[in-house]
Amino acid sequence: MSRIIPLTAAATMLAVATLATASEVDAPDPNLVEARSIVQEFATTLTGELKEAVQQGGPVNAIKVCQERAPAIAADLSERTGWTVGRTSLKTRNLDRNSPDDWEAGVLADFDKRQAAGEDVKPMAHAEVIETADGSVFRFMKAIPTADLCLACHGSDLTDDVAAALDERYPGDLARGYQAGQVRGAFSLTKPL
Ligand code: HEC
Repeated sequence: MSRIIPLTAAATMLAVATLATASEVDAPDPNLVEARSIVQEFATTLTGELKEAVQQGGPVNAIKVCQERAPAIAADLSERTGWTVGRTSLKTRNLDRNSPDDWEAGVLADFDKRQAAGEDVKPMAHAEVIETADGSVFRFMKAIPTADLCLACHGSDLTDDVAAALDERYPGDLARGYQAGQVRGAFSLTKPL
């Protein structure tokens, strides 16, 4: 059993017509608002540190930001907010840490379809309340677009030193060959209700 949470005003209006009450239109789901602000903080902090590290020492130097800082920022946000916060992808670089579960894989496949159908990746997201054996959980995923900055480490034309540094750390790396504008992966957040 699950319930999709409407993300846009138009979708909310539609939900109102079917099942929601008028007050839900005026007040967006507080879990959705919270999840979005956590994602924003994660993205802003990580991209800022990544850009700085690339500027200071090139992409090889910046690999450690993705390897060490991304999980550290996620852990800090999880601890502060009570949400489980992480990143995932259908083509992961760190298979142990970032591989999607079934629900995440389904949403990511849907993001790819939505992108192929012409939808803008930047605001692309999905929210759902899911009933589990342990009770209801709120799950939120926000697509991460591939920007030019990402191509040094996720594109199809890596320099030899970047490729070698990645090979050494990530023997099963699948996260190469992306083009700017594609869905690179998603932030994924879960909270028990
Ligand atoms: C300097 C190299 C580098 C750059 C630049 C880079 N990444 Fe990564 N990326 C990595 C590494 C290394 C990992 C593995 C992190 C880990 O061990 O959890 C990773 C992992 C990820 C993941 C988690 C899923 C996975 O594949 O394991 C996402 C999502 C991601 N990167 C998105 C991006 C985006 C979007 C950009 C551009 C804004 C970007 N990366 C730029 C090196 C890079």
